[in-house]
Amino acid sequence: MAKKAAKSAWFCTDCGAESPKWAGRCPACGAWNTMVEERVAAAPARSAAAARGKRQQPVAVNDIEALSEPRILMPSKELNRVLGGGLVPGSLVLLGGEPGIGKSTLVLQNLLSIKSRTILYVSGEESATQLKLRADRIGRGSDNVFIVCETSLEAIEGHIEAVQPSILVVDSIQTIASDTLDSAAGSVGQVRECAARLLRYAKERGVPVLLIGHITKEGSLAGPKVLEHIVDAVLQFEGDSRYMYRILRPIKNRFGSTSELGIYEMARTGLREVTNPSEMLMTHAGTDLSGVATGVTVDGARPFLIEVQALVSTAAYGTPQRSVTGFDSKRMNMLLAVLEKRVGFKLAQKDVFLNIAGGLRVNDPAMDLAVVCAVLSSNVDMAVPAGWCMAGEVGLTGEIRACTRIEQRISEAARLGLTDMLVAAGNLKGVDKEKAGIRIHEVVKVEDAFRAIFG
Ligand code: TYD
Ligand code: MG
Repeated sequence: MAKKAAKSAWFCTDCGAESPKWAGRCPACGAWNTMVEERVAAAPARSAAAARGKRQQPVAVNDIEALSEPRILMPSKELNRVLGGGLVPGSLVLLGGEPGIGKSTLVLQNLLSIKSRTILYVSGEESATQLKLRADRIGRGSDNVFIVCETSLEAIEGHIEAVQPSILVVDSIQTIASDTLDSAAGSVGQVRECAARLLRYAKERGVPVLLIGHITKEGSLAGPKVLEHIVDAVLQFEGDSRYMYRILRPIKNRFGSTSELGIYEMARTGLREVTNPSEMLMTHAGTDLSGVATGVTVDGARPFLIEVQALVSTAAYGTPQRSVTGFDSKRMNMLLAVLEKRVGFKLAQKDVFLNIAGGLRVNDPAMDLAVVCAVLSSNVDMAVPAGWCMAGEVGLTGEIRACTRIEQRISEAARLGLTDMLVAAGNLKGVDKEKAGIRIHEVVKVEDAFRAIFG
């Protein structure tokens, strides 16, 4: 009998409708650009195997043997922490981030320092010479790292058989394609198929597989959202590529907490771990410039101090400008409206520029108070005294509201030697003010904060 050709069909990612050919618009639900090619021939074979009787029986959870193989420790402590304590054998991890942020550097740098394992690095983006140049920049590493430039999934499977790696890296999932599908590399169908095949490999052989993936301009992982469901962990590498700080954030992790956070700095010789972010993000501590305030933020479970800079000046043209980096611009407009209405500062005819230090982006509502203080300080042209910091959310009536993890914030500020901290009144339940190691000023309204700082 002739070998059956691999068959594919088109499925709508919205409603799941099947169609034998591609269509711009789903014939069932009418959505545009949702049809994705998928292989369908393999499915009956698998269900036949299942029917042959290898049916699973329910087992008591306490009788299941725990994972015997220990985690593979990465050389970077920050990476281990974000992974939940090292790389789990047989896991599929997706590392996403914008182009040029340092994904390849992070992975290569870590793998080059692992001496005891065979590693296969599949690159579909760069040539071996380019990778070598990068490796030389980072410093000479292990002899057990093998690099292959390949974009065909079937060829990659061949290389895996030849090298028998104990860690596999695919850089990037959008550049590889399987011969069983007609669609181009990077299409939703290809990304899904390749990820599923690599997942099967990871689970069957117990080899951890690291996939590198691009994210789109909107910040989501390119390719299907389903990729996030397939993999065990999704780590996002973020930051502004014009600045040196990078944050590694777990979006999903089946083997650890997603509230961890890794901070790196991009240097000439690769990425450097930042174990003490607060010290680096407070550039002007000690100088008395107006418009600078220090906020105490928590990202994931990690508290750090970060500087907010504001510049308020009279608008030169009719419409005042509002320019923000690292903070939500709608939120800033809301805070400015609160200052205008509740505190009586006439900001409507002023240009306001706001900047968060280090090119980082903060979403913590507790940064509101620092933003407000920076704006007020610039507006009255009086510096916030050295050693002051703040944490609190600002409500629409100008009230200061409590924030989460206040003990951690206070101890981080105290540890860095700051002397005074503004917090919302009532936020201190269970916190011993005397033992805090920092003078705490409880404030109810924005006016109180203004009075506390500027007298
Ligand atoms: P890269 O890892 O190629 O990013 P990605 O894989 O996410 O696309 O790194 C991109 C940038 O990092 C590159 O523009 C230059 C910079 N870089 C350094 O500053 N120092 C270094 O030692 C290396 C290797 C890269
Ligand atoms: Mg790269």
